[in-house]
Amino acid sequence: MNLRETFGDDFLWGVATAAYQIEGSPKADGKGVSIWDTFSHKPGAIADGSTGDVATDSYRRFPEDVALVHSMGFDAYRFSLSWPRIQPDGHTVNQKGLDHYKRVIDSCLGAGVQPWVTLYHWDLPQTLEDQGGWTNRDIVEVFADYVSVVGEALGDRVENWMIFNEPLSFTMLGYMLGEHAPGRRGLSNFFPAMHHVNLATAEGYRALRAVAADATIGNTQYLSPTLGSGPGPQLAQRAERAANAMLNRAFLEPGLGLGYPVEDAPILRMMRRYIKDGDLERCEVDLDFLGVQYYTRLRAPFRPIPGLWTVPGFGDDPDLEKTSMGWEIRPEGLGLVLDMVHAYGRYPRIVVTEGGASFPDELIGNRVHDDRRIAYYETHLAQVKQARERGVPVDGYFCWSLMDNFEWADGFEPRFGLVYVDYESQQRIIKDSGHWFAEQLGGVAVTG
Ligand code: FCB
Repeated sequence: MNLRETFGDDFLWGVATAAYQIEGSPKADGKGVSIWDTFSHKPGAIADGSTGDVATDSYRRFPEDVALVHSMGFDAYRFSLSWPRIQPDGHTVNQKGLDHYKRVIDSCLGAGVQPWVTLYHWDLPQTLEDQGGWTNRDIVEVFADYVSVVGEALGDRVENWMIFNEPLSFTMLGYMLGEHAPGRRGLSNFFPAMHHVNLATAEGYRALRAVAADATIGNTQYLSPTLGSGPGPQLAQRAERAANAMLNRAFLEPGLGLGYPVEDAPILRMMRRYIKDGDLERCEVDLDFLGVQYYTRLRAPFRPIPGLWTVPGFGDDPDLEKTSMGWEIRPEGLGLVLDMVHAYGRYPRIVVTEGGASFPDELIGNRVHDDRRIAYYETHLAQVKQARERGVPVDGYFCWSLMDNFEWADGFEPRFGLVYVDYESQQRIIKDSGHWFAEQLGGVAVTG
């Protein structure tokens, strides 16, 4: 039995990308500067010194990309909108930006591919960052305005939406660790950013619902079951609970009306100064689906730092296979994460909106033999299947990514695609993994 038969007709198969990682054309049609345009041009910010100025040139080549999605047999294409194309200064509407996305969406619809649209995948207009970005409370309203503009312009042709891509990743890497745009550091940036994103999720949902009554609206989260360790089981457990509270629960539970998990991560009490009366009620939102994004399990070693108890990081078990990002391959974590979110009993529907792996792919005679990626998908999809058998309402899986692209601070070296991109010629070549999906899903897998 192939995947389509095994998972049944109601299961959705898709691939995902994000605007800054693929589009290029940073100045086309009146686009404003984003924090990623600024950040990637800073010396030393990107591992290989590259930028997203060209990327996979998808601003111009999107018809070919959509054709690839279709030819590999996928039902849906998840991509993000670049906010500064639509509102170059974060406020004024640029019709040409909206028109571009209308064309992308129409090209999906014309090919029989469902567009799944992410409203924010990390490329904030620089002018808004200059006013404090996600640390400035005003952004909540400004974001909701942006969402209304988009919903009004595109709501007639898009059914499925995601408000944010991985709030943890962009607040932690961008505002706490300084490794992603805008390159800010410290809890005094991270905590207000976290809270404003939690508020903006709910306000964004309401703004979209107001103009697109029948839309299906979700949100995506980076989720990882944390693995505690320490001198003795009690301290290991304390570290594990603290990491779980900070990395997973702090981004899920405000939306469920549960507030912040301060008991397990007492450091979150520092958030008090950013939370105004009524905020915790405003954060609550009944999403139509939760987008789960899972790559690897994180480790939480105990550290004697009161209130924090751990500094989590990627695992480094020598016995485990790792991707070229250095991430341990741990399929069981996906099953654990699906159970974890299902246990809240509050998500009517779960979709895996990202999963995938980077390997040092090589083009040999117009083929890329990425057997390890096929194995990665087989083992992770087995977890999804088992979760469905346990009653978890997960009914879709999106591969990260359609094609190789600009992997943020890691530049172009990591290759996550089902399609190989020759960055010199911009030629797209379907890898063996893409051919495998085509066989499984009933596609034909024709390149170009
Ligand atoms: C996720 C991001 C996505 C991509 C993958 C590898 O965290 O959402 O843009 O970078 O990781």
